[in-house]
Parts: sequence; structure tokens; C-alpha cells
Amino acid sequence: MERVLTHEETLDASYLPPKLVRRETELALLSQRYKASLAKGVAYHQLLTGGVGSGKTALAQRLGDELVRAGRVGSLPVLKLYVNCWRRSNDRTILLQLLRGVGVSLPDRGYGLPEMLDVFEQGIRRAPRHVFVILDEVSALVRQETKLVYLLSRSPEVGLGSISLFLVASEDVLPYLDAPSRSSFGVTHRLQLRRYDAEDLEEIVRYRAEVALRPGALPPPMAEQIARAAASSGDARFALELLAGAARAAESEGAREVGPEHVRAAKGSIYPTVTESKLEALGETELLVLLALARCLRGRHAVATTDKVRQAYQAAAEEYGVTAMSRVTFWRTVKALEREGLLGVEPPASRGEGNRLSMDEMPMSYLTTLLEDRAGRRSRKA
Ligand SMILES: Nc1ncnc2c1ncn2[C@@H]1O[C@H](COP(=O)(O)OP(=O)(O)OP(=O)(O)O)[C@@H](O)[C@H]1O
Ligand SMILES: [Mg+2]
Repeated sequence: MERVLTHEETLDASYLPPKLVRRETELALLSQRYKASLAKGVAYHQLLTGGVGSGKTALAQRLGDELVRAGRVGSLPVLKLYVNCWRRSNDRTILLQLLRGVGVSLPDRGYGLPEMLDVFEQGIRRAPRHVFVILDEVSALVRQETKLVYLLSRSPEVGLGSISLFLVASEDVLPYLDAPSRSSFGVTHRLQLRRYDAEDLEEIVRYRAEVALRPGALPPPMAEQIARAAASSGDARFALELLAGAARAAESEGAREVGPEHVRAAKGSIYPTVTESKLEALGETELLVLLALARCLRGRHAVATTDKVRQAYQAAAEEYGVTAMSRVTFWRTVKALEREGLLGVEPPASRGEGNRLSMDEMPMSYLTTLLEDRAGRRSRKA
């Protein structure tokens, strides 16, 4: 059997992709800021903020690699040190990791901050380098009155060697910093990442599929469907989880490529938003509209035009022996279902076409069975 996921490991959270599509401008800007300063022999500090899955960590790592490759301070090469400060970290635990990064170690008890800093400095001096320190997820640390940010950002004054800082957080952490540290993060030392929109996510998904999947295994409409499903969060990680899940679903079915069913299956297993109780609460017209949409989407299609769905709705109404609602009521029902999060309304694909409806929540086949069962029971009761 031909595999769909030929390089599954490249969709792991730990994998750093060679390119960051849609973040090239930001990477170039940051790298230019650091290089310009380092070329003058001066350390540079930066705060990067952005929403969940907006590419902060990947961007920080890429920047670090770029500086290691091409940055220099006089004759000094650059060393990248990455520390994730999430949860239960404090100045000491972080400093211990930094010590390990420069090849020295201390027992993790019995030493105060000043002694640890001395040892850190000795480590740097033993093999002189400019140290580029990434402190990722720095919010919690900064809220507990860290001294480390101050000390690292003032390394020449406190005799610590040559250190550049790169702080990463989801929110603006400047208000929590002491005034001297804050002054190290002026306007040109801050960057807020723009949130990924559906187009960005589509490009990211397409690129990552090129790396991870068999060529041609992700048809363009599927990249679009995945991007649309992740667009409300702007979260690239969620989009990639969907991609991986959909590719696995395709593979386990023996399919050669990813189809809409596989994307829905992946989304359903990550965010089961359609619940039985929600369906239970639906009125007859709503149920029939969903059934109609489900039938239009079954198998090959990611979206269906409103007209198509309305025809399918009329057919379903006839089938279950109820009078079909007017166009206006049909549309009102569609909007109500949209508010419930049970379907999506997309603008027309081209001029002259109607709106398109989508439903990415769960495997269509399951939904169809459920709805047919429910509608059948109801019409028997009536
Ligand atoms: N522009 C991009 N091109 C390719 N892959 C990307 C891009 N942006 C993000 N990714 C991928 O999406 C995932 C999430 O990105 P990342 O971990 O950098 O986000 P984050 O902003 O640090 O999220 P969090 O706030 O949860 O820490 C990673 O697997 C990353 O490789
Ligand atoms: Mg991160």
C-alpha cells in the first residue's frame, strides 16, 4: 500500500521546519535588528508576543539558528540557549539550565543567585561566545519579580559577558518588568505577531504537507478545508494536528489521498463540538437541513452551494413526509444552525453563485446515520 504520511516525524511538535512561510518578513526584520547591533559589538534584546500557535517558538529558534550561523560579535561566535520557563520555573531553575548550556554544572541546592551567576560567567569565559538566550513562555516568570531578566539584559554592567536576550510571551509582559529592564525593551525591541488568518494557515498547511506527505496526497481543497477549520483560533498547531490526523485517517482507510471525510474525522476527534444533546434539541426543520447538508457533503465535497442544499432539503422533507419550508425559512434555519456552530456559511466562490455551506465537525457518515435515525423516529411518532 502506498503511504500518505511519508515523513510523519516532521509533524511532531518538536520538529522545526526549515522554512517559516508567512513569517519571512518578521524573521528578516528580527535577524537584521540583531545582526546590526551585534556587528557593532552591542548586545540586543527583544520581546516577541503573539497568540497561541502563532509561530513564536519556531520563529525564536529559527532566529537563534540564523545568528549562530551568521552572527558575530567581534571575533566571538554566537551560542544559542533555549529555556522554556513555563510553570514552576524561577530564576534559579532557569539559571541552572543556562549553566548546563555553557557546559558547567552546580548541584541544584545550596547556591545563591550571585554564586550561580559567577559560575555562569566562568562558563562563558572558558569558551568565549556571545550568548543568545531565548526565554520562552516567560509570563509566569516575569510576574514573580524575576531578577534574571534584569541581570541578563544588563550583562556588561553586571560583568556577565556578552549576552543578548529574546523574551517570548503570549501577552505583553512589560508592565511586570522593573523600570530598568523595561527600558531595554523600547519600541524597536518589541514585536507582536499578527494572527494567522485562513490564507496564512492554508499556505502553512500546504507547505508542511509538502514536507510530510506523499506528493499530491493533500488536494488543494483539503488544505483549504483544514485552514478554514483552524482559522477561528489562528492556531497553526491546531491546523497541523488536523493535517496529521486527517492523513492518518486516510492512511488507515487505505486511501491514496486525504479527503473531506478524513478532515472531519480528525476535527471530530480533537474538538467534538457536535454533541448528541445538541442534536437532540433540534427541531424538525433544522434536523432536515443538517441532513440535507450532510448528504451534499458526503464523500467528496468540502462545501456545497446553498441552492444544492435546499434541493436536498426539499427531497429529504418529501422523503419524511413533511411540508418543505419556504426559501426564507430555510435560510433563517441555516443562520440559526450557523450560530449554534453546527454548520458554516462561506461567501460565494465566484460572482453569480450563492453562498456555500460547510460542516467540518465530524465524519459525515456518522452524522447522516444519526440524523436519519432521529428524523425517522420523529416522523414515525407524528
Ligand atoms: N509560518 C509557519 N510555517 C510553518 N510552520 C509553522 C509556521 N508557524 C507555525 N508553524 C508550526 O506550527 C506549530 C506551532 O508553532 P509555535 O509552536 O511556534 O507557536 P507558538 O506561538 O510558540 O505557540 P504557543 O503560544 O502555544 O507556544 C509548530 O509546529 C510550528 O512549527
Ligand atoms: Mg511556543
